Amino acid sequence: MAGSAYSTDSPAKVRADVVVLPVFEGPDPGPGVKDVGLESAFRDAKLKGKKGEVLLMPRRGQDGFAAGAVMLVGVGEKKSFGVSQLRRALGRAAPTAARFGSVATTFPRAISGKAYADAVQAAVEGLALGSYRFDRYKTKRDDAPVGISKITVLGGPGSDAKAGRAAVSRGDVVADSVKWARDLVNTPAGDLPPAVLAKEAQKMARSVGLTCKVWSDAELRKGGFGGVIGVGQGSVNPPRLIELTYTGAGKQQPYALTGKGVSFDSGGLSIKDAKGMESMKDDMGGAASILGAMRAIALLKPKVNVIAAVPSSENMPSGSATKPGDVLRHRGGKTSEVLNTDAEGRLILADALAYLAEKKPRAIIDTATLTGACMIALGDDIAGAFGNDDDLVGDVISAGSAVGEPIWQLPLWRDYRSLIDSAVADVKNIGERYGGAITAALFLAEFVGDVPWVHLDIAGPAFASNGSDLGPKGATGVPVRTLVRYLFDRAATR
Ligand code: BES
Ligand code: ZN
Ligand code: MN
Repeated sequence: MAGSAYSTDSPAKVRADVVVLPVFEGPDPGPGVKDVGLESAFRDAKLKGKKGEVLLMPRRGQDGFAAGAVMLVGVGEKKSFGVSQLRRALGRAAPTAARFGSVATTFPRAISGKAYADAVQAAVEGLALGSYRFDRYKTKRDDAPVGISKITVLGGPGSDAKAGRAAVSRGDVVADSVKWARDLVNTPAGDLPPAVLAKEAQKMARSVGLTCKVWSDAELRKGGFGGVIGVGQGSVNPPRLIELTYTGAGKQQPYALTGKGVSFDSGGLSIKDAKGMESMKDDMGGAASILGAMRAIALLKPKVNVIAAVPSSENMPSGSATKPGDVLRHRGGKTSEVLNTDAEGRLILADALAYLAEKKPRAIIDTATLTGACMIALGDDIAGAFGNDDDLVGDVISAGSAVGEPIWQLPLWRDYRSLIDSAVADVKNIGERYGGAITAALFLAEFVGDVPWVHLDIAGPAFASNGSDLGPKGATGVPVRTLVRYLFDRAATR
């Protein structure tokens, strides 16, 4: 929610509908609890300061605070309380806080030193993301929360208000961009075919000042994007490629981004079963994360250049669909034999990677809900990272851990390259059952040449099947925060 604020007001004086304050295990009252006269409240209520404990005190007239209510939130051990714990604790508190309206919090004051600004940003993100709902399709919203109307981060009296305000506005922009990406992923595939995704991207680009070119199916065919065309040719909804450009550093070589934008993955002729298709509207989660990151970058203006080329196709079975055994010719000329039409993400990304590599970028990052195998390896919460440059992989993983999006490196094991040798083409689109995330990454590696490249397999974390601290069941917007952080760190170090 754009318009959050930073203030050095006392939590006792701030005029918000609710003030959210932390209590560590002990119970040990955190910053601001004493100011509002509630230092013994947690103990009196027989609470210990453990994660998940909450004490809500509406104002009764003679209380020591001006706000409508104070919400004391147990956050666990003080010594393990960092920026990620702060974001998640406020995410858990957000649905309750949202019943009130405007929210103020002292949480970042629990974190001192270099991480303070990150904590201020994370506080805004936690409250904004934790109260996210996707209710566009609900006609009855009676039980929906009011929604957080305003967030005020309360800094200590001596804190740097200018830095605080900057961190708050980064939090606003990042949270809004994550929510924008979530909305795209949560939108039913029937309402978001490739052309509509492209329209939404174009609208976003116009509103934040990005250059945007949408490639039509005719232009893609002419440009040699045989993977994007081949995956999309079974659908009545034609494919698109969305190209966005951000210039923040003059003539420097850009960073390049791409993301899998399969608007719906039925599997094609290698059709999925009903259960397997249930969540396949989210198969454009990679694309949405790249578009969301570009939105944030355009608004926050770090001194880097970034180009994004996001392919979008709908994978459907029909009389015109690509058949097992067909050979596709990708951008740049390499050919692939399609032995399973359900391994379609790599086919559209191949074109986009080859196209981006032509631009000689500093690095390429792709994000994709690529393989069930990666979910088997790492579960729902953790993204897999593959790459041809370990320093780059390390930097992306560091960015992820700084923003609370866990990423684990998996090997781009070159010996397995022979598993995707094809008898008729340069490469085939499936390997064996085992090591499926690795062979998918090895397929992609064929198309990046010698450009430093990282592939993030987000099949697990793109979608929360049970909801999380930072949002309800459904799209998560992962890894928008990581991408924004990575690009910010590059701007700072150059
Ligand atoms: N979109 C799926 C991967 C996926 C599965 C993401 C479940 C999220 C949840 C992808 O296109 C796919 O179907 N992959 C196949 C590859 C196989 C045919 C080589 C898979 O993982 O089974
Ligand atoms: Zn897919
Ligand atoms: Mn598939």
